[in-house]
Amino acid sequence: MPPWTWNAFYRATSTQDLPWHSGSAEPELMDLVRYGRLKPCRALDVGCGQGTEAVFLALARFKVSAIDIAPRALARAKKLAKLLGAKVDFRLGSALSLPFRAREFAFVTDRGCFHSLGEEERPQWVAEIARVLRPGGTLLLRTFSDKANRQAGPHCFARKELLDAVKGPFRVTSLKMYPALGNGGPPMEPLWALVATRVTSFQ
Ligand SMILES: C[S@@+](CC[C@H](N)C(=O)[O-])C[C@H]1O[C@@H](n2cnc3c(N)ncnc32)[C@H](O)[C@@H]1O
Repeated sequence: MPPWTWNAFYRATSTQDLPWHSGSAEPELMDLVRYGRLKPCRALDVGCGQGTEAVFLALARFKVSAIDIAPRALARAKKLAKLLGAKVDFRLGSALSLPFRAREFAFVTDRGCFHSLGEEERPQWVAEIARVLRPGGTLLLRTFSDKANRQAGPHCFARKELLDAVKGPFRVTSLKMYPALGNGGPPMEPLWALVATRVTSFQ
């Protein structure tokens, strides 16, 4: 969706009715944090939307920046952070041109932004995430899988297609399919949860 469409979608849709909003961070993120695989660090939530997971990370003592292209989404995210006393550096901007320094983050997460980009935009997303993630840092990427029954909307990735998309700067350490937590309306659809490490050797 172009930026204005995202913003219009948020304007027309209450948070409870957003199809991707479950009210909670997903287990795929919580598990990384809960079992200590990921220690509190400098983290970036790309396409943070209404801010659920950025706020979760901040409350878990991560130092969080979060970016989204839709001002309406960010307004909700800021409200949620304020309500819960979470400190998040929210930014309005694009994943394709991140306003952050090289190697600034030790963890980057994306739930639902990458798969909404056009095919021609994906290499730029990969390049930008690789730039801001320090070598040895962790990427958690969640996208629709091709097992999802969707005729339109975000791209649904085949396994190899997703692996190929991130190869080069990233070494995939885990790739699993899981049922998406939505807002309880539409049936749950299979997503990929990809965990990868930013390799040192790639420039
Ligand atoms: C499906 S929503 C997911 C929101 C949030 N990550 C979550 O899981 O609740 C995708 C989000 O990506 C944002 N987005 C889409 N394209 C973007 C881009 N190029 N840069 C930054 N954010 C973008 C949208 O505005 C939207 O908030």
